[in-house]
Amino acid sequence: RRSWRIAVLPGDGIGSEVVGATLPLLRHASQMAGLDLNWDMLPWPSTAWHEDNGQMMPDDALAQLSQYDAMLMGALGDPGPTSNPNRYLLSDGVSLSPLLTLRKGFDLWACERPAQLLEGAHQYLADDRARDVDMLVIRENSEGEYVNQGGRLHRGTPRETATQLEVFTRAATERLLRHAFESAQRRAAERKEKGQTRHFKRLDGSHATSQVCLITKRNALPEWGELYTEVFEQLSQRYPDVAIHHELIDAACMKFVQAPWQFDVVAASNLQGDILTDLAAILSGGMGVAPSCNLKPDDRSVPPLFEPTHGSAPDIAGQHLADPTAMILTAAMMLDWMGVEDPAASDAAEHLRRATEASLKARNEGSTLTGTDNISQHIEHFLAQRQEALTP
Ligand code: IPM
Ligand code: MN
Repeated sequence: RRSWRIAVLPGDGIGSEVVGATLPLLRHASQMAGLDLNWDMLPWPSTAWHEDNGQMMPDDALAQLSQYDAMLMGALGDPGPTSNPNRYLLSDGVSLSPLLTLRKGFDLWACERPAQLLEGAHQYLADDRARDVDMLVIRENSEGEYVNQGGRLHRGTPRETATQLEVFTRAATERLLRHAFESAQRRAAERKEKGQTRHFKRLDGSHATSQVCLITKRNALPEWGELYTEVFEQLSQRYPDVAIHHELIDAACMKFVQAPWQFDVVAASNLQGDILTDLAAILSGGMGVAPSCNLKPDDRSVPPLFEPTHGSAPDIAGQHLADPTAMILTAAMMLDWMGVEDPAASDAAEHLRRATEASLKARNEGSTLTGTDNISQHIEHFLAQRQEALTP
């Protein structure tokens, strides 16, 4: 039995509200499973960023955070007073979300965002096959459109020109796509264990039990599109059991709405993955239920960052209206990650997920429960019920 230390970063806006609603459930589920889990609260909201003129986190923030096994974050990002010219300014004068500082600082190069419509979650698409949506979007999280290099020439003149460089390296592409293939194999194995199987058609008419779909815009952005495609096709030779598929980003958006149940693992660049995962969140029932994590799959000694797909939602912040479900499922994802080493964590994840699903289902069958804390208490009720049922 090992012990786990977590850095909890409630962050901004609804972040601290959904974190507050999640921690008691995480505590309860861990106790039920006999999981040795401890956390420290690190209140580093980005509001401090503009109040203190540029300092959100202490100087040694990354060093402090590296002492933990994982980071659990509510939401980081606050528009702040628009009159303040220093908002979101890094020391080098570059404007960047503090969230990106953490992703870059720890080289958390993969962002995983699963989309699955849980029973009881809101089904946005009219087609009933939307119930079967079960995909994992893996977003490149370290480079691409997010390298933040460029400039503005001839500021304020009619000739003003903004440039924004995109950088795609073979090394980052290879690690991303290798991870996508391995994730596809793992998902197929998990399905097999549950007695389920899915079939994905190959071009030659044969079928595979898993698939990776690569997203690019290579008809208009051929340099990186072709690099991605080349690496994808080379790597696929080593994963003959996984079907490969390619979509252009615009067509992929259409198919995410038209037939999302046809996707398994989807690999996308940083920006295209960002856009696709908001769309995928709707397929899971909305931003209120979509979990997410940022990790370095090849190095478990680096703390992954678990955060819901949603942001700090300044429009509803302070009113305790936010649905904490995404945050709770994000905590379950963290427990899954810990479960690779510690079976108690897998048990805790199972408790948390089952209670959340039971609550979603009950809420869908009539009650119109709203409010962050009400929803959290509703889930707590199902956790207690589960504990009672499991007690000999
Ligand atoms: C996300 C967010 C961030 C991103 C923003 C806040 C920089 O939209 O996590 O999806 O674009 O990655
Ligand atoms: Mn986003």
